[in-house]
Amino acid sequence: LKRSEDNLRSPICCIMGHVDTGKTKLLDCIRGTNVQEGEAGEITQQIGATYFPAENIRERTRELKADAKLRVPGLLVIDTPGHESFTNLRSRGSGLCDIAVLVVDIMHGLERQTIESLNLLKMRNTEFIVALNKVDRLFGWKTCKNKPIVKAMKRQSNDVRNEFKMRVTQIITQFKEQGLNTELYYKNKEMGEIFNIVPTSAISGEGIPDLLLLLVKWTEKTLVEKLMFTNEIQCTVLEVKAIKGQGTTIDVVLANGVLHEGDQIVVCGTQGPIVTTIRALLTPHPMRDILFINMSKIFYANASLMPQGSYLHHKELKAAQGVKINAQGLDHAVAGTGLYVVGPDDDVEDIKEATMQDMKSVMRRIDKSGAGVCVQASTLGSLEVLLEFLKSPAVNIPVSGINIGPVHKSDVRRACAMLERKKEYGTILAFDVKVSPEARELAKENGEDKKREASGEAVFPCRLKIMPDCVF
Ligand code: GTP
Ligand code: NA
Ligand code: MG
Repeated sequence: LKRSEDNLRSPICCIMGHVDTGKTKLLDCIRGTNVQEGEAGEITQQIGATYFPAENIRERTRELKADAKLRVPGLLVIDTPGHESFTNLRSRGSGLCDIAVLVVDIMHGLERQTIESLNLLKMRNTEFIVALNKVDRLFGWKTCKNKPIVKAMKRQSNDVRNEFKMRVTQIITQFKEQGLNTELYYKNKEMGEIFNIVPTSAISGEGIPDLLLLLVKWTEKTLVEKLMFTNEIQCTVLEVKAIKGQGTTIDVVLANGVLHEGDQIVVCGTQGPIVTTIRALLTPHPMRDILFINMSKIFYANASLMPQGSYLHHKELKAAQGVKINAQGLDHAVAGTGLYVVGPDDDVEDIKEATMQDMKSVMRRIDKSGAGVCVQASTLGSLEVLLEFLKSPAVNIPVSGINIGPVHKSDVRRACAMLERKKEYGTILAFDVKVSPEARELAKENGEDKKREASGEAVFPCRLKIMPDCVF
């Protein structure tokens, strides 16, 4: 396949920003879904990816008279958490993306994680657009559902426009303090030098057409070289999920290249590298009950949010795309690590080595000789968060063992060994993982009376739930 300007892949766009600025709500508004209200504590705890086909973007931006042909096949949007605990997920998300939307609450201006996100983007030299969200909260705002922002602004009273101007000026100043020049996009005469601000409301949709159009046009303009399609696979495992009737599947973000049914792949596993063959490449079926747009492809990395049901099968899938992969032997795959395809000229041993790098770097941080609790989580990302948290001076709980995925008998055995050395460390702190019946049984035999109820809030200020029934 030749690299050319006529063969572009979909750009990957990451949504970043401080907690509760409206990142997930913005995506809900574009999709016509309501993921945000279903979130525990309204806090996003993982990375999710949604694919927007070009025709949906065209539809949504029609009022801006931008019928001009889009050169990219679509846009893959990645939602990230804004909570301070999830620096690693933000870092991973920003590492995956070609362009970002930095969401700022117009009523709050720049906040801690806005600045952290900004620094991640600067570090990687990533282009970004500022969504100045929640304009509907300006006092006296007149709703103009899904209107382009300039049209919506014209309908506002002088008071609203004055408050808007004042807040925008303040926020532009705050960006300047961070060393960045920004301007409202419709006033920006030096795009490229000066970063664009798009005022939006994720509740009533003002400014959403502008944001979508700017995203696509800006990536097409500045990232053509980067978006030229290549055959080199760039792929990250986001979730490992057991699906009824399908066994364990992995949800991945394919950033570049093509995946085929039958490809031999290598992924990182808790028990070592996993070499397997793609049995099925899946994306969810079209959703009919979408409000605004006929979304033909919609994908949640968080499978629990996805309507359960059948999937579309594909012989091959082209980047960028969120994909569910069905293959044998994925039970111990580790989320947050890279997926590799074994090509005809590749040495499997080299690839196996490469897949294990991320995992090894986390493992190295644990002192396995000392006394401490065992920690178990659903993804490498959440495991990293738990470890950071336990290490923090206020908590300071030593860790002797870690694992990713469901709690099995062997995990309980390991924790039991700690009972003899230091009773209080005979504990498994588990986040977002299942406990097998055998494991539960073994735990009961060894310490039913020691079972402690730990409320998520007590141990975890970020409202992550530590499943009380898996704290032994
Ligand atoms: P985290 O994922 O936890 O970082 O938060 P988030 O940035 O995804 O914010 P979220 O979408 O969860 O929205 C936070 C709160 O702000 C929710 O109660 C939303 O309903 C509200 N909200 C989001 N966007 C808007 C908006 O444009 N206008 C108004 N009035 N409220 C909004
Ligand atoms: Na939130
Ligand atoms: Mg969110």
